[in-house]
Amino acid sequence: MSWRSFPKAELHLHFEGAAPPAFIRGLAKEKSVDLTGVFDERGSYAFRDFPHFLQVYEAATQVLQTPRDYQRLTRAVLEECAENGVIYAETFLSPDFCGGRDLHAWRDYLHAIQEEADRAEREMGITLRGIVTCIRHFGPDKARETAICAAETAGDWITGFGMGGNEAIGRQGDFIWAFDCAREAGLRLTTHAGEFGGPDSVWQAINDLRVERIGHGVRAIEDPRLVETLAETGVVLETCPGSNVTLGLYRDFASHPIARLRDAGVNVTISTDDPPFFHTTMTREFEALEQAFGWTADDFAELTKTAINAAFCDEGTRARLLKRLEST
Ligand code: ADE
Ligand code: ZN
Repeated sequence: MSWRSFPKAELHLHFEGAAPPAFIRGLAKEKSVDLTGVFDERGSYAFRDFPHFLQVYEAATQVLQTPRDYQRLTRAVLEECAENGVIYAETFLSPDFCGGRDLHAWRDYLHAIQEEADRAEREMGITLRGIVTCIRHFGPDKARETAICAAETAGDWITGFGMGGNEAIGRQGDFIWAFDCAREAGLRLTTHAGEFGGPDSVWQAINDLRVERIGHGVRAIEDPRLVETLAETGVVLETCPGSNVTLGLYRDFASHPIARLRDAGVNVTISTDDPPFFHTTMTREFEALEQAFGWTADDFAELTKTAINAAFCDEGTRARLLKRLEST
């Protein structure tokens, strides 16, 4: 069966990481930006390992210089999502890339993105929400500035706060101020943990940052007590199996712990992370999971429902999405 039109909800999508390579190349040409080393000979993003991936990611963002560039990116990303049956997506947006953490500039970027997202909702029936994201290897001081941008723009559209970046640098607890600031502004919280960091990073995320969702979190599988805690507390994992396989965390989908975590009662969901970097789409994730674990339409409907229930959106939007899922 083709999973393309099956309704999907994606909770973990880095906005710049979703930029098609041709889109970035087009902007580079328009702006005469040299992107040597970003692409391989076939035109795909080129990276050796996770730290190098982060470098290439940041190099590619150099061409995204204005709110108008982000408006065009919004269209490109949402077209791709909608073509893969995504009815709801949450995307990580970093004021670091959108205006250098200047609040005034950040508002302009946000306005442009939201305007295009509203258009996409009318024309393609896809709903987008934003999670403001600080970048761990940029350090706690920049994270504070990012959290202030998040707090000042919190509302119906910016609904969450999170952290990406290199998990090998610093500790989750270094970012308590930023997460407390976001929580006090009413934002819902997630952080990358248990991707390149082990179970300890997930414990810190729960205990120090008090997040309700974890980006990846898959290495929780290495600590049975943590798996039990995740199952008991209902913390949701934004699992991105294709990303983990491409970045070498697991040999293949069959070795990925998503099915074991799910069987243990953990709330898992499916996302793509940075789809063109990892040569994936939501459709491909579903296909690979069907092949690895024999998951059926009932399984995928349940996983989509888990994602909608864990979405950082208002209750009216959630009810509408659940209805749409039930009617297919
Ligand atoms: N930023 C973009 N993709 C990321 C990932 N997979 N982990 C951490 N930070 C990221
Ligand atoms: Zn991620």
